[in-house]
Amino acid sequence: MEILILGHPVLRQKAKPVEDINGELKKNIEKMAETMYKFKGLGLAANQVGILKRVFILDISQREGKNKLEIYINPEIVSAEGQIAYEEGCLSIPGYYAKVNRYAKLYIRAYDLNGKLFERELEGIRAIAFQHECDHLDGILFIDRLSPLKKQLFKRWWKKHHKKLSN
Ligand code: NI
Repeated sequence: MEILILGHPVLRQKAKPVEDINGELKKNIEKMAETMYKFKGLGLAANQVGILKRVFILDISQREGKNKLEIYINPEIVSAEGQIAYEEGCLSIPGYYAKVNRYAKLYIRAYDLNGKLFERELEGIRAIAFQHECDHLDGILFIDRLSPLKKQLFKRWWKKHHKKLSN
């Protein structure tokens, strides 16, 4: 799959809830996982590959040389607390990294591939990645969460590194 880059309108659209966990969705999730591993991302949201469905995948264990794919369908944050700042990047904004403030701890709800609703407490990098990917499903990118000054700096950086800037 091709990863859409900043400037592509689909990255700015709100994804629609998954209504049917069918073969097509499973196939797409499989392809998303291949794409995420190929580009060594920690996560990938469906918007990033042009699919406007509320689904994303994470693999936090990759950094320890293991693979443990996590799939979140129609994810929801039930409650959140604390604050954490971490340097984030995004496969749709290649080469750029910046510190973003997020909740430190989440209580979340989502469906798995079998259509079963599960709840889970997340913290640390998994909580950060979850929020980053949830944002994607709402058309939000991590650069939107930077201070006005940092946003200006980013725009300059992006213009230099990429010819098109439609944000
Ligand atoms: Ni991203």
